[in-house]
Formats: sequence, structure tokens, C-alpha cells
Amino acid sequence: MQTVNNVAELRQTIRQWRQAGHSIGFVPTMGNLHAGHIRLVETAKTRADKVVASIFVNPTQFGPNEDFDSYPRTESQDAEKLAACGADLLFLPGVAEIYPQASQTRVSVAGLSALHCGASRPGHFDGVALVVCKLLNMVQPDCLLMGEKDFQQLALIRQMVADLNIPVTVQGVATVREADGLAMSSRNGYLTEPQRQAAPALYRALIAARDKLLAGAADYRAVEDSAKHALQAAGFNVDYFSVCRSVDLQPAWPGDAELVVLAAAKLGATRLIDNVYFCVP
Ligand code: PAJ
Repeated sequence: MQTVNNVAELRQTIRQWRQAGHSIGFVPTMGNLHAGHIRLVETAKTRADKVVASIFVNPTQFGPNEDFDSYPRTESQDAEKLAACGADLLFLPGVAEIYPQASQTRVSVAGLSALHCGASRPGHFDGVALVVCKLLNMVQPDCLLMGEKDFQQLALIRQMVADLNIPVTVQGVATVREADGLAMSSRNGYLTEPQRQAAPALYRALIAARDKLLAGAADYRAVEDSAKHALQAAGFNVDYFSVCRSVDLQPAWPGDAELVVLAAAKLGATRLIDNVYFCVP
């Protein structure tokens, strides 16, 4: 696996691959890679001839009091994992390579970026949209692989790609979980042992809500409230727990067929997010 730190070298390799007729899959990450990220790379390999992964802890998507400085940076282990799972190129830029000048252009997906995680993390999704737009322009892949674990992020990027006519296919990849159901996340490493024991309650609450809805519960707001209470009892500080329409992430009502239950909750200072997507018959 080749590692490059700048856009010129990235483009040179990609130009050679294009000349040889290869298709390209792209997996953007912030590093500290786990089995969820690796699943994206493995899926990319089934979709494209060459796979590019990026590691960039993107400052513009972190709020002033968030964990940008302490976000785990484990580049050498990450590079080994990427090589082992068959990535062809690692793009590992510094901040000055991605944001060389005081950038004047913003990318903002109205509507979607204000909901849920966007409401509690102002500016977060503008930072995500900007960096993913820039990375797509740098790599120019055929296929972009992103995790369903970050369901709102995936929806936002799909919207941006459609709105800006970016010539890439967006492929969502199912959430990879620990044996006890906890969605894998780089932030799980922040959890203390008792918090780690409590953490799977988030996924259990999502599954319990899904099962109630599938069993015909009609008061969706009551389903949300009871999940919030269960999570509070398990030691969480709930940010949101929302039964939504998967198409636009707006509150769902009986009669909506494709649903996603989205949740974010804190254990101590660590914010966990998760979701379940399903169809009501
Ligand atoms: P990061 O949190 O590193 O995640 C990179 C990709 O891995 C995202 O598409 C995310 O949805 C996916 N992912 C994370 N945990 C997963 C899991 N348990 N199962 C499946 N996929 C999982 O998301 C970001 O970085 C950044 O916002 C980024 C898109 C790179 C822009 O900076």
C-alpha cells in the first residue's frame, strides 16, 4: 500500500490508475480504525479495482469545546490495518494540505444539517460536507463508501452529491457491532469500564423501540419517551431519541413505511450515537 501526504501525489497515482482503466473506491475516515472502518474498505474492494482510504481529523467539523485535540491519532497502526485489508492507497494529509488558505467557500446542506446531531453540534455538518466535498474533488472516485452507523451523515452526503451533481455512487455499509451490540466507534475508547458495561443499553433501547413499532405501537412519541427513561435509568444523559422517516429524518407518524430510530446519548463526557433502520409492513 502506498501512502501519500499531498494532493499532487494523490492525483498522480490516480491518473495512472485511470489510464490503466481501473475504477476507484474511496473510504474517508478520521483514523483510529476499527472493524467498522475495515468493513468499508472490504466492501470498497468488491465495488472497485483500487481502493483509496483517507485519514484526516477534520478540524472544521469539531466544535470549540469538542474533542479535536484529544481525538485518538494512531496513524502507524491504522496504516498497517489498511494494508492488511487490501487498501491500495492511504491519503494522509496534514491540515495545511486540506485547508491551505483561509477558505471562503462553505458547503451547507440546508434542513438536514440542522436536525438531530446538527442541533446539538452547531456547524458540525457544514464541516463534514465541506471536507467530504473537497476529498471527493481530490480523489474523484467512482464509489464512495460510508457507514450507516452515522445515518444522518450518510443522508447529508447523499443529498450533497445529488444537489452538486458530483459524479460518484454513494454506498452505505451496515453498522459493525461488538458482540454485545455496541456499535463500533473510535470514541468507545473514551469509556471507563463501568461505562463500557452500560453502553450496549443504547442499542437495546433502539431495538426495543423498533420492536414496539413493529408490534403496532401507534403513539411514536410515547415510544421515544419510554426509551429516554430507560436510557436515563441506565446512566445516560440523552441528547435525542427520535422515531423518524428515513427519507428526510423528520418525525415519523403511523402510516410512514420506512423508519429509522436515531439516538444520541452521553455516558459521562462520551457521546455515543446509533440507529436502527427498518420498514413497517
Ligand atoms: P469516522 O468517524 O472515522 O468514520 C469513517 C467512516 O466509517 C464513516 O463513513 C462512518 O460512518 C464509518 N463507520 C464508523 N463506525 C462504523 C461502524 N461501527 N460500522 C460501519 N461503519 C462505521 O465519519 C467520519 O469519520 C468523518 O465525519 C468523515 C466522513 C471522515 C469526514 O471527516
